[in-house]
Amino acid sequence: MKILGLSFSPRTQGNTEILLGEALRGAREEGAETELYRVADKDIKPCDGCGSCRKTGECHIKDDMQDLYKKLLEADGIIYGTPVYFYNMTAQGKTVIDRTIALSQPGRNLANKVGGIIAVAGSLGLVDAVKDLYFYMVTRRMLPANFIAAYAGPKGDVKNLEKCLKATRGLGQEMVQIAARKFEYPSGGTHIAYGTHTR
Ligand SMILES: Cc1cc2nc3c(=O)[nH]c(=O)nc-3n(C[C@H](O)[C@H](O)[C@H](O)COP(=O)(O)O)c2cc1C
Repeated sequence: MKILGLSFSPRTQGNTEILLGEALRGAREEGAETELYRVADKDIKPCDGCGSCRKTGECHIKDDMQDLYKKLLEADGIIYGTPVYFYNMTAQGKTVIDRTIALSQPGRNLANKVGGIIAVAGSLGLVDAVKDLYFYMVTRRMLPANFIAAYAGPKGDVKNLEKCLKATRGLGQEMVQIAARKFEYPSGGTHIAYGTHTR
């Protein structure tokens, strides 16, 4: 059982990373192998919208995302951790999210993986960040677990939020418990779900 924690914060040992660490600790307590992956340390370019992945199933951009694709596919659960930057996830986060369009093939997608969300903001924008990550997980046919929304500004401030730390550890534990149940979306349907249609 593998739980991958993605940090979308450019700040090392910042609030997002502290909470991700706590969630991963909870996951380890339930027997999972865990990894904290700092997107800001990597060379991950934005999606260029070429559409070639639709035909080949592979992204033609040869950067660190190639390694992250492997980690995402191997994971049983993925925790998306982001600070709020101007009312939503960071650019690092959106870049990774967009690049996962290449994981839209039968047998090479994120369906049935358990998803968790951690968002941290100084004052405004948590709901937007959480909602967008939640919608993302649903369209990828992931299995959303809980979300953590924390108010913390200065680096390390989140350490003072005792209840939040406990809930975050609980998120990690619960994700392992959900993944162990091996729920699956009905087979035969598409591996991507879209909510609204114009034609
Ligand atoms: C460029 C930038 C934009 C930000 N925008 C917001 C915002 O829209 N709303 C908010 O409440 N906090 C905002 N913040 C504050 C961060 O969300 C907050 O400091 C958070 O704790 C940072 O998490 P980290 O320590 O994991 O990096 C912003 C910070 C930066 C650097």
